[in-house]
Amino acid sequence: MTPDMQQTQEILERYPHDREQLIQVLQEVNRTYNYLPPEALRKVAEGLGVPLASVYGVARFYGAFSLEPRGRNIVQVCEGTACHVRGASGVGDEFKRLLGLGETGGTTEDMEFTVVGVNCVGACALGPVVIANGEYHGHLRANKVGKLVRNMRKKD
Ligand code: FES
Repeated sequence: MTPDMQQTQEILERYPHDREQLIQVLQEVNRTYNYLPPEALRKVAEGLGVPLASVYGVARFYGAFSLEPRGRNIVQVCEGTACHVRGASGVGDEFKRLLGLGETGGTTEDMEFTVVGVNCVGACALGPVVIANGEYHGHLRANKVGKLVRNMRKKD
């Protein structure tokens, strides 16, 4: 399904030709569609007067942006060293098992969940850490993953 570009247009109207606001615009576009659709990136490049290659460069650089469609719920499992030694891989595996995802994670067919591994998120003392829809969950154990998934499903 092609995303509605009217929303991108409305975002751009708040930042008329202000190339300094590229990251801000991309954040809003990413929040709106849950990823950065190629059509929106073309529109942003035109609207801000920034070369398309530069827009893609910024979009690829920041881990908060996604160039692929993602699920309604985003689970980021920290795979940094501190979290790894405290059992992060078991936590990540449990998310994937419960959601029927393969070894590498990804997005469920119903577009409800995306599970991705991320580098250190700066909360090492709380490891293993999972960020679920922007909310940090520290000291997470595999046996608590089911409850977290159920709670995320409930928040509609
Ligand atoms: S390694 Fe996970 S928060 Fe730092």
